[in-house]
Amino acid sequence: MAAAQRERWSSRSGFILAAIGSAVGLGNMWRFSYLASDNGGAAFVVLYLAVTAMVGLPVLLAEVVVGRGSQKSPIRALQHYGGSAWKPLGLVFVAAGFLILSYYGVIAGWTIRYAVIALVTGFGPEVEGAFGGIAQGWDAFGFHLLFMLGTIAIVAGGVKGGIERSAIVLMPLLFVLLCGLALYAATLEGGAPGYRHYLQPDWSEVMSLEIFSKAAGQAFFSLSLGMGAMLTFGSYLGRDNHLPNETLMIVGADVGVAFIAGLVVFPVIFAFGLADKVGESTVGALFITLPQAFASMGAIGRVVGVLFFASLIVGALTSAVSLLEVVVSSTIDGLGWTRRRAAWVMGAIIAALGIPSAWSTNFLGVVDTIANNLFLLGGGLALSVFVGWVMDDPVAEASVGTSGIRWFGLWRTLLRFVAPALLAIALLEAIPSTWQAIVDLF
Ligand code: PFF
Repeated sequence: MAAAQRERWSSRSGFILAAIGSAVGLGNMWRFSYLASDNGGAAFVVLYLAVTAMVGLPVLLAEVVVGRGSQKSPIRALQHYGGSAWKPLGLVFVAAGFLILSYYGVIAGWTIRYAVIALVTGFGPEVEGAFGGIAQGWDAFGFHLLFMLGTIAIVAGGVKGGIERSAIVLMPLLFVLLCGLALYAATLEGGAPGYRHYLQPDWSEVMSLEIFSKAAGQAFFSLSLGMGAMLTFGSYLGRDNHLPNETLMIVGADVGVAFIAGLVVFPVIFAFGLADKVGESTVGALFITLPQAFASMGAIGRVVGVLFFASLIVGALTSAVSLLEVVVSSTIDGLGWTRRRAAWVMGAIIAALGIPSAWSTNFLGVVDTIANNLFLLGGGLALSVFVGWVMDDPVAEASVGTSGIRWFGLWRTLLRFVAPALLAIALLEAIPSTWQAIVDLF
């Protein structure tokens, strides 16, 4: 029996927008802001850009190359180029999809809840206390379920009809919303120290392995690398895409959105005298401090609050779609299920896996640490070794659709030596603290 025709993006921009949709998400707005704020401001941003260019970009191209070349979902794609010995890595990718989406959906659920609050009642001064009730328990679980339903519906709609179509609408919307918010933030009196906090480098803080490791983890999370999401999206590409240009656009958009999100968050927080509250916890800036600022803005705070949390929902949705797609595409290819069945069954399992995170933000934080530090950094390390050393002639596959690019040699060198070395350092540095976080939880 001939295999069914593989699904495809309908256009080049469809793929690019869907991949940007995967990359741009809570990571850009929630994680990036607090990491930059906590770890030296602009100095962290510079370090982050360096890791993104030297490791993130080459690994992104590697993932897309493996996907497009094999036309398969992660487990089979790795088997295709590396033999059965590499199948377990594909399984780890799928496991990462389950793990990350289980708590990502909970955080996304909070953002829906906040958008509803902003719309219906506006934020009150008691946001901090209210967050406790919203973040954990039935409330959190209910909104997580709602978010998962939206994610499942899009993935069940297919590559073209669901994933691509939603990204084409949602990504430009997100961009317009964020730029509008950044412009508004620029008009606030007293925002200047916020820009300074964000953009003035403190080099003394960045010169540590710990912060390097955080920057690498953030680069991988933000670009959706190290778990086969970009590989899966690449597998729906035809042979006429110019992959180096497209990966550059994806990275540019991801970094740009993270940067603009910072231009919203910091001036707003500083303008309302809430600076000392930033970085108190991983959820502080976005879910406690910003709503406090919105509360002090009066009526306009409601509008700004709705728009801000709407943009977060949009970003989270297109990212969650790519997480679920890793699991769903593997189920379709591996078990022969229909897309619809795979999306609903796997989506339901992931929703249930979110239960512990919905009832404990501590648990959520630890799963986030494990996913980033171990799964994504480890997955990225394995993948760069795979494409750099195991796959036969990746340059030939990467060149398809281009007129032969000179820096492919550099790409291969980065994949063979630089990325594995830097990722191994980041991973080794992160293991003890990850272990400690797990121990502390119990
Ligand atoms: N890149 C997404 C974000 O920044 O929010 C998160 C993410 C999506 C991570 C997909 C990994 C992934 F495969």
